[in-house]
Amino acid sequence: MTKIAVIYFSATGTTHQLAQAVAEGVQSQPGASVQLERIEGEQIHHGRFVELQLLERLQQVDAMIFGSPTYMGSVASQFKAFTDTTGELWSEQAWANKVAAGFTVGTNLSGDQKHTLDYFQTFASQHGMLWCGVDIPGTYDPALRNRLGAQGGVVVQTADGVVPERDLALAFYLGQRVAGVSQRLAAE
Ligand SMILES: Cc1cc2nc3c(=O)[nH]c(=O)nc-3n(C[C@H](O)[C@H](O)[C@H](O)COP(=O)(O)O)c2cc1C
Repeated sequence: MTKIAVIYFSATGTTHQLAQAVAEGVQSQPGASVQLERIEGEQIHHGRFVELQLLERLQQVDAMIFGSPTYMGSVASQFKAFTDTTGELWSEQAWANKVAAGFTVGTNLSGDQKHTLDYFQTFASQHGMLWCGVDIPGTYDPALRNRLGAQGGVVVQTADGVVPERDLALAFYLGQRVAGVSQRLAAE
């Protein structure tokens, strides 16, 4: 069984909707299982993420898919608090060769969501992980997914918290793709 974790923060539920769609995509792939790991503000004490059992659980997975709303042009501080607890794992390269991917949402059409994806990718690279983007060219998809055209991962825009169906379909696809890529790597 290929194990995929979706690690995300969501304050008002939009990123949560995307996380659920990603998880459904993982589960659509035979032989893949998913665990949803939602970061909560209560897990942060005096600025430090203290839910260290999460790090133990993540050691067991084949792939991680990161999610955060875009806040001030980057990940939310709650997500950053989680990444800052992984420094010891970084020094051991304990996550090397696990697959990684990401998704984000913002209110604006060009609200610097791409920078959030870039942060995820940099974080994954620091850990020696293998980045998996989206192989759907914007505006060329018959199902009209990837309407914003980012290929580093899933970028979504909504001004009212309602996520368009085709963005949910894109998030589903990302989960499915990460599961498939992880299985191909494991079979090598
Ligand atoms: C502090 C703060 C900063 C934000 N910064 C951005 C931003 O830089 N770009 C953007 O497009 N949206 C920005 N937003 C909007 C959120 O990304 C948007 O409301 C998102 O859907 C929230 O996700 P959630 O429902 O999962 O919490 C910001 C919202 C907050 C509260």
